Amino acid sequence: MGKIRWIQVNAPEEGATYVYELVKEKLENDELRVIGLATGGTMEPVYEAWVQSPLDFSNTIAFNLDEYVGLDPSSPNSYAYFMNEHLFQHKTFLKTYIPNGLADDEDEECERYERLLNEHPLDIQLLGVGENGHIAFNEPGTSQDSLTHVASLTPSTLEVNGQYFENREKMPTTAYTMGIRSILNAKQLILLAFGERKRAAIEKLAEGVIDPNWPITHLLAHPNVIVISDLVEPKR
Ligand code: GLP
Repeated sequence: MGKIRWIQVNAPEEGATYVYELVKEKLENDELRVIGLATGGTMEPVYEAWVQSPLDFSNTIAFNLDEYVGLDPSSPNSYAYFMNEHLFQHKTFLKTYIPNGLADDEDEECERYERLLNEHPLDIQLLGVGENGHIAFNEPGTSQDSLTHVASLTPSTLEVNGQYFENREKMPTTAYTMGIRSILNAKQLILLAFGERKRAAIEKLAEGVIDPNWPITHLLAHPNVIVISDLVEPKR
């Protein structure tokens, strides 16, 4: 099992600076051909720092972790919209990929996405974490060998993420998500988690035992993980 590098920071902005330096160095050394991106409030300061910088992503391919099934990229709740708002309309990438929420055939869309990931192995994957320990939309109980699939969102995720939907009745209850194996295939994983809401998940990870009820703990199976957090690394 790999050893996690814990980076203790005081605030999300400090975490964003850490990611910035790391990404900058990899870009300069031509070690960042493919980057995996994530959505959520946690990522906003990270993308803000990139947007305000001269970083050049024009030779980098970007993949996003997930997308709601049934949402159009023009829907403000879609992750395509989020990425465009916070990053893609400000920075040019060689190519950006995100699951197509409007695909006719869900199975085909999952296969297409996984195939693209195989063609372009991820150098880095950025990750946030849900309060219930989900990574991307891999909910508790998801197999470590899972590939890109359609996940049913748990009541907890529907509750937490539902706050962003004006009309909760219209919130999708399923989403495309890279699987845990698709994520573990990346060369390096960088997870960011800030605030008390994430404490339970971070403490589970720090316990150092893989528990399928806490998808975040599958990161323990990866040899190169950095966790950036304002939550004190709990004693082991
Ligand atoms: C969603 C995404 C996750 C993300 C999580 C946390 O559920 N599918 O990839 O990690 O939100 O979001 P936030 O950063 O807003 O807490």
